[in-house]
Formats: sequence, C-alpha cells, structure tokens
Amino acid sequence: LIRCQSTSTEEPKTRNPLDNASNLLTNLLSGGNLGSMPIAEGAVSDLFSRPFFFSLYDWFIEHGSVYKLAFGPKAFVVVSDPIVARHILRENAFSYDKGVLADILEPIMGKGLIPADLDTWKVRRKVIAPAFHALYLEAMVKVFTQCSERSILKIEELLHGKKTVELDLEAEFSSLALDIIGLGVFNYDFGSVTKESPVIKAVYGALFEAEHRSTFYVPYWKFPLARWLVPRQRKFHKDLKVINDCLDGLIRNAKETRQETDVEKLQQRDYSNLKDASLLRFLVDMRGDDVDDRQLRDDLMTMLIAGHETTAAVLTWAVFLLAQNPSKMKKAQAEIEQVLGQGKLTFELIKQLKYIRLIVVESLRLYPQPPLLIRRSLKPDVLPGGHKGDKDGYAIPSGTDIFVSVYNLHRSPYLWDNPNEFEPERFLVKRDNEGIEGWSGFDPSRSPGALYPNEIISDFAFLPFGGGPRKCVGDQFALMESTIALTLLLQKFDVELRGSPEEVEIVTGATIHTKNGLWCRLKRRSDVH
Ligand code: HEM
Repeated sequence: LIRCQSTSTEEPKTRNPLDNASNLLTNLLSGGNLGSMPIAEGAVSDLFSRPFFFSLYDWFIEHGSVYKLAFGPKAFVVVSDPIVARHILRENAFSYDKGVLADILEPIMGKGLIPADLDTWKVRRKVIAPAFHALYLEAMVKVFTQCSERSILKIEELLHGKKTVELDLEAEFSSLALDIIGLGVFNYDFGSVTKESPVIKAVYGALFEAEHRSTFYVPYWKFPLARWLVPRQRKFHKDLKVINDCLDGLIRNAKETRQETDVEKLQQRDYSNLKDASLLRFLVDMRGDDVDDRQLRDDLMTMLIAGHETTAAVLTWAVFLLAQNPSKMKKAQAEIEQVLGQGKLTFELIKQLKYIRLIVVESLRLYPQPPLLIRRSLKPDVLPGGHKGDKDGYAIPSGTDIFVSVYNLHRSPYLWDNPNEFEPERFLVKRDNEGIEGWSGFDPSRSPGALYPNEIISDFAFLPFGGGPRKCVGDQFALMESTIALTLLLQKFDVELRGSPEEVEIVTGATIHTKNGLWCRLKRRSDVH
C-alpha cells in the first residue's frame, strides 16, 4: 500500500548519494521531514496496473503541485509546479544530484554526463557542449535526410505493387534514430534500417537492461556475484563488451588520425567537405582536451543511449497523434508541399516548416521523454512556497528524493487550455492584450530567435529537454532530426493506425513507448509523384 507518511521531525538517515546496494536499502527505509506537505495515498495496483506517471497525475490533481508520495517506508516529493521546477533545475541546481537515476545508469554510462558526479560533469560539459555548434547542426541535416530517405526507400520497397503496407512504425523509428545517432556521434553506420548485426543486437540488449533497471526498485545488479550468476546480468555484460569494443575501435581510429586544433577553428571547419563531421572527431581534435579513452567512451555511450530511444519516441507519438487527426496531417502535408515542393530539404528550409516544428513540440508536450526528472537533495533546501499546506515553502532535508513530473507540468489544467488535446496551433495563439504574435501565455522575447518553444519562453511550464545547467545538450540535434524525419515521411505517405488508438497500449520505462508497437497502415500519397 502507498500510505500516509508520518510527519516525523527526524532527519533522514541517509544523507549522501547512494553508491552501493546497502545504502539504497537504508535509504528505502528512511523517511523525511517534509512538514505539512500533502500526502498521496493509494494502492500498489495504482503503480502496476498502468504507467506510474498516470497515478502521479491523479494525485497532482487531488493534492496539489507539491506533494509527498509514500511508497512503503520510502517517501518521494512529486513536483508539478513551474516555479519549484525552475528552483530545483536551475536556481539551486547544484544542491541536487541525479539520485537513484545515477545509481541505475552508472554501470552503463560510467562517468558520462547524465550520471556523472559534479566534478566530472563540470569538466566534460564544458568540452561537449561546444561540439554541438551551428555548423555541426547544419552538417547533420544531410545525415538526418539521408538516413530518413533510407527508411522511406524501405517502405517504398515494401509497398511495391501494393496499395498499402502495414508496419510497426515505432520499430522503424527506433532503427532510424539508431542509425542517425551512430553517424552523428561517432561516424559509425549501424545500418539498422536494413540489417541486423551483433553490435545492433548488443545496443538493444543494453537499452533493454537500462530500461528494466529504471523500473525496478531494488538494485539487484549490485548484489555480489550477480554479474556472473544471474543470466540476464551475464548477457548484459556481454552486450556491454560488444558495444565497448566497437567504441574503443572507433576511438582508436579517431586518435590515430588526430589533427589537433583550437575549439574556435574546429567550429569553423568547412563541414560541407568533411568526411567525418561527428562529435567524436571534434572531441578528439580539440586542443587541450587530452581526455582518457575510458572517459571518451563513457561520453559516447551516454549520447548513444540518451539520443536514441528519446527521438524514436517523439516520432512515434507524433505519428500516433497525427493519425487520429487527419485534418492536421493534411495541414502538415500542405506545408511540406508549399515549402519543399519536390526539392531537397535544407537547414534554411527547416525555418519555414513552422507547423511541422510545432507538431514535434506538441508531441513532446503530450508525451515528454522522460516523463519524470529525478533528483536528490545534497543539502537541506526550502522549495518556493505558495502551495496548499505551506505558504512559506516546504523545508526539505538533505537526501530527499524528488520527481519533477514533466508530464504533469505539460498537462496541467492550471497552465494550459485543453491540456489533453493535440493542438500544435496552441503555441501560435496571438496574445490579445499585447497584440503580438507569440506562444500562448508565453513570452517569446525571452529567447529571441529560438526555432522551437522551450523552457525559457514558457518559464518552466514546458520543459521537454529539462532546464538549467543539466539541460539536454542534444536538444537542437533532436528537434531537427525529428522535424526532418517527420517531414520526409509525411511528404510521401498517408498514415493511419491499423487498429483503434486504445489498442496502442502505453508502457513506460525511461521513455514512454507502446506495449506492442505502433502498427500503422501506410499508403503512397496520391498527390505526390
Ligand atoms: C539530458 C531529453 C535527445 C544527450 C536530457 C534531459 C532531458 C533530455 C529531459 C535532462 C535530464 C535531467 O535533467 O535529468 C531529451 C529528448 C531528446 C533528447 C526528449 C529527443 C527528443 C538527445 C540527443 C542527445 C542527448 C540527440 C545527444 C546527441 C543528452 C545528454 C544529457 C541529456 C548528454 C545530459 C546533459 C547533462 O547532464 O549535462 N535529455 N534528449 N539527448 N541529453 Fe537529451
């Protein structure tokens, strides 16, 4: 039973981030002094009969935007308020770490940016963020286009001689995103749209384990000898070795052909003539960054995992939503024809694909990836007040586990009109009082020139890539990739769901995905030749 938590005045027993199984168990047994915070009560069936974030939403409506969830003896604070989210993610960001998430991901990503301790993170973030510069993103347009065209060719071949073809588009998007991330991050062509290979199988194996760990409460993988005794752990370590060997080979090659240069010069390279525009090339060639191979491998592995399923999920849910809204699909296709005609997609043209871009962000609003951001306080803090039960703000002790529910923020009835409706146009509504074209209720002047609505414009009501110093480094990469893949798909095909929307069951781990695939019926568009 998820039950009432006593409001003890004792400090929690565990104050430090967890670094071993016994710590985690101790932490599970500790509560926290969270004062007069409302408390969610429910049954375990709430957690297992449907995705966890659905229950967190119901409790948000019932208890307000900051509440305590007691799960057995363990308490979590669930945040669904933009000001509190901004405080935790941006204003007081360094008073928090990734808590249980780091524990889950460290065996896979090592000291990569997501689970990294603060000292490592500070060094690596400074090195990695400049690698996503404007010319790199522009060069990626070619990679996004070529990979998407491979997927489209595959569908056309399946359609050969037929009027329609039935396909699990979630699986197709997953292959597409894997191919793109491989080329963009380390110039390796998985070619997974058309083939299977031991490396691809290993990547999926490792992802599957990462997902399983993120939904499992006890870190079984940390028990002594688990690595050798538990079959799924043995397989996991075998998969990791296959990926690591592949990455080590790529790092070796890149280092053998190193051309050391200053960051500024690297950012001005002639990308149109570069054979290898990848992040790995940039990181290896960067003067002054003599990073060891192990750290570099952790960085690559982190980006491989962070940038793969997330983007595949955005495309999956965008198609799911469009398939239920044929008039919006037609509107998108009309924009594509008007902007592209039969011509090639370029970086400049993406700026004109306004409606497609809004479809991408609206899909991220309704299906944020991941639906929750996880933090643990490293020291006592006071959350901004003004909430039910505590006007002055809740005092939280060190060691408090927090879920910032992006799903709740994005569907909050207090922040959005018709929060559960798919309305890409919502971001364009004119603000009557000021007579300027802006995003509804938001202020575009906060982030001039932004191609996509973001957390700054919305003041943390919309945060698909998080916010503050730990914000996603790949946000523009992912948004452009999704915009291009969706554009090229809709240019060629009409898409409808094979069954009813209800048959597409939602499950969740690190991302929100379907239980049995997104089965769609695709047909060549009659007005495209
Ligand atoms: C962090 C979302 C694509 C690399 C994050 C965070 C979110 C996010 C919400 C913040 C996590 C937190 O605060 O706990 C997404 C979504 C994507 C996407 C929705 C696709 C639509 C990518 C891509 C890459 C990437 C393509 C790399 C090529 C990273 C990294 C971090 C991160 C390295 C950690 C940043 C840090 O802690 O400094 N992502 N991401 N992501 N993402 Fe993404």
